[in-house]
Amino acid sequence: MAESMQGLHRTCRCAEVTTEMVGKEVTLMGWVAKARNKGGLVFVDLRDRSGIMQLIFENGSIDEEGFAKAGKLRSEFVIAVTGTVEKRGGAVNENLATGEIELRVKDLRVLAEADVPPFPIEENSKTKDEIRLKYRYLDLRRPDLQRNIMMKSKVAMLTRQFFAKEGFLEIETPMLGKSTPEGARDYLVPSRVHPGSFYGLPQSPQLYKQLLMCSGFDRYIQIARCFRDEDLRADRQPEFTQIDMELSFVDVDDVIDVNERYLAFLFKEVLDIDVKLPIQRITWQEAMDRFGSDKPDMRFGMELHDVSDIVKDCGFGVFTGALENGGSVRGINAEGQGAMPRKKIDKLVEFVKGYGAKGLAYIAIAEDGTRKSSFAKFMKDEEMDALVKAMDGKPGDLLLFAADKTKLVYDVLGALRLELAKQMNLLDKNEYRFVWVTEFPLLEWSEEENRFTAMHHPFTMLMEEDLPLLDTDPGKVRAKAYDIVLNGNEIGGGSVRIHQDDIQERMFEALGFTKEAAHEQFGFLLDAFKYGVPPHAGLAYGLDRLVMLMAKADTIRDVIAFPKVKDASCLMTQSPSQVSEAQLHELGLDLEPEKEEKEEE
Ligand code: AMO
Ligand code: AMP
Repeated sequence: MAESMQGLHRTCRCAEVTTEMVGKEVTLMGWVAKARNKGGLVFVDLRDRSGIMQLIFENGSIDEEGFAKAGKLRSEFVIAVTGTVEKRGGAVNENLATGEIELRVKDLRVLAEADVPPFPIEENSKTKDEIRLKYRYLDLRRPDLQRNIMMKSKVAMLTRQFFAKEGFLEIETPMLGKSTPEGARDYLVPSRVHPGSFYGLPQSPQLYKQLLMCSGFDRYIQIARCFRDEDLRADRQPEFTQIDMELSFVDVDDVIDVNERYLAFLFKEVLDIDVKLPIQRITWQEAMDRFGSDKPDMRFGMELHDVSDIVKDCGFGVFTGALENGGSVRGINAEGQGAMPRKKIDKLVEFVKGYGAKGLAYIAIAEDGTRKSSFAKFMKDEEMDALVKAMDGKPGDLLLFAADKTKLVYDVLGALRLELAKQMNLLDKNEYRFVWVTEFPLLEWSEEENRFTAMHHPFTMLMEEDLPLLDTDPGKVRAKAYDIVLNGNEIGGGSVRIHQDDIQERMFEALGFTKEAAHEQFGFLLDAFKYGVPPHAGLAYGLDRLVMLMAKADTIRDVIAFPKVKDASCLMTQSPSQVSEAQLHELGLDLEPEKEEKEEE
């Protein structure tokens, strides 16, 4: 039977009770994490979002009726208790903040009883994801998820505090708007008033924040919901949150400066970690050459070596063939892995094939210096010696090579480098290595569309010195775009924007947009620019990704209260779901053609 709160006031949370409060009376409320009945004594672990407090019910300290109630407590009952803080009679629990104390209860109210939960509410649950997500409200009671969600709240609070001090204004932008060009598919919302017309949910506030700069707000910040209909991964959700900002009258260094101070502030406040400033910067080209990735994990070495020059005249057709096709041959040295069994190497070959590689050539150097290799028979001894030397190969090392189009070689070795680091236990979650990746290519060639597309978005400024290349060699133009990368994750990205209309026009040309097409999509922005646009630049973090790394979680689902699964559905609410004919009718939508199609199939 559930009792009421009448006349009761919670004095504090469980873990807010300290040893200094011994002898004081407190009232706590929360959930029963565990109840143990030992005859004349009942012990209960009481849980709230702060932690656990051990309760002790003893016949005599509490009246007969209360003691009987205590004996019937089960996991997840919601209770209120009043009692006296005491030093623990039994053993001290080193794992608990309140491990030295307990509460001797003199008054108990059962505020709600509870069914047996479908899985135990405990740290590091082994329960299957599907069950956890179906009962997300119970899953969220688990201490690790509670910590993550509380950390996210703290990060949001500190973010507002920091940027307010720096003169940023928090301004909301519409959810129902015009779709923005961030490269994913839009989520569309049908309009009832304008049948056949749709709003696009924002992939980011990009266009609006640039308009706010035109309006003179000069420093904008928003913790903004974004929607992207793309394939989900561990670090991607269809709706997620950005810490989104835009600044006027600035260049790359200004944006980087305020953001470095922000990151240092945040990591100090939340994790007590000192971020060494300035954060290292490397260009996109250097990141690709050294790590095979535009989001390099800098916690370990195992850098790529370009050995194209060394092998250009060798006898191994795989290598020379790749070079003749305009590609390259590169390798990595997995130090100390020279004794890797053949079967495990074969697995690596399979792994790289998943990234499109045709194979993976290797040299395994035993401790005594003898070599095993998949391609030695095609090579002269001197050629092998030169290759090993170029790779800095020592006894006990495993050298792995990919030969192909350079872009593919980067992808393959970038992924292999990470895979090996995992296998070799080189990734320490307690280490935080930031790096800025700068000077991204402005454009990338799309085989599908047979034209250049913007790597960031069409308003990204190019490096002034590359301006002439825009007409002659667009693929070589570098952008004033930057990503902030943490432990191999892109946690944020941004750019300086184009504010000169002649450059914007040339950019649209390079992208293959006609003037009309550009105006149809972005007319309101281009118009706004005619009335006095300040030079501006900005950046957006993925808040969920940032907190995922700070909380050492494996997926962003663990820092989002109600996340979606891989197929973008919510297992708890069963959304998306069908709607009534009446609703569809009102929106002027007709699903019949689709049904008919299905029937035909
Ligand atoms: P961008 O597209 O790089 O830039 O997004 C910024 C950051 O948002 C995070 N992010 C995501 N997080 C979770 N799930 C997703 N599906 C997802 N997609 C992106 C990433 C990423 O670095 N308007 C520009 C920013 C700017 O130029 O100012 C933008 O949106 O951490
Ligand atoms: P093969 O002569 O095809 O048996 O190849 C000899 C070795 O070269 C094998 O270890 C292959 O995995 C490897 N190999 C094949 N194609 C490539 C490639 N494109 N890059 C690197 N190694 C390759």
